[in-house]
Amino acid sequence: MTDRHEWEMDRRHVDLLGDVLGNLHIDRAVEIGSFRGASTMAFLNAMSARAVEYLQIVEPNPTPELVALLEEHNYGPVDLLTVESASFLPGAKFDAILVDGDHSLRAGVVESAYVLREPRKLVALHDTNSDAIGIPGCRGPAYFKYKLIEAGYVVFEDCAKRPGERTERGFLLASKDDHVIDIVRRAFVRHAKP
Ligand SMILES: C[S@@+](CC[C@H](N)C(=O)[O-])C[C@H]1O[C@@H](n2cnc3c(N)ncnc32)[C@H](O)[C@@H]1O
Repeated sequence: MTDRHEWEMDRRHVDLLGDVLGNLHIDRAVEIGSFRGASTMAFLNAMSARAVEYLQIVEPNPTPELVALLEEHNYGPVDLLTVESASFLPGAKFDAILVDGDHSLRAGVVESAYVLREPRKLVALHDTNSDAIGIPGCRGPAYFKYKLIEAGYVVFEDCAKRPGERTERGFLLASKDDHVIDIVRRAFVRHAKP
């Protein structure tokens, strides 16, 4: 994978997520919206370090690149579920999640309701600032962010504009757990400098 597709998270944010996951111990992680696997690498690297035990990918349209990536980086149990998040989330058990699928407000309402139904160690969202900077169809992540704050999560967000990056779209990590919050705070200092 060479050129960054406009759908993909910035490398900085993938590294930030990977750094945090690598310093935690997560039994069950979920990724909603994997596309070609750019963000998936954060989970796979954490699995290779035994920091994540299991990964559930929820991606209705898996790309050949994603399938090849999962074959190449076979560090532990990964399930690829080819359904939309709304079919998977009811009743799902997990302690960490990255949400980067359908960015509509409708999806944000449904996903936030299910994710916030139980306490999670770590919630990661991409495109949390995309609506604010005028990218159409992205009201869901902004709504989800405010539901996290309303639910008492401590939220760290990077949406700085940097030359050669698209980090102004916004990436956030949220938790209610003091240990996780400390790890996220330190990782932000390392990865989210202006
Ligand atoms: C912005 S891309 C994800 C980019 C990826 N996280 C990365 O950093 O490379 C969005 C992905 O979400 C998937 N998707 C769209 N609607 C979805 C839904 N309702 N549930 C889960 N995934 C969805 C799309 O097929 C697409 O691959």
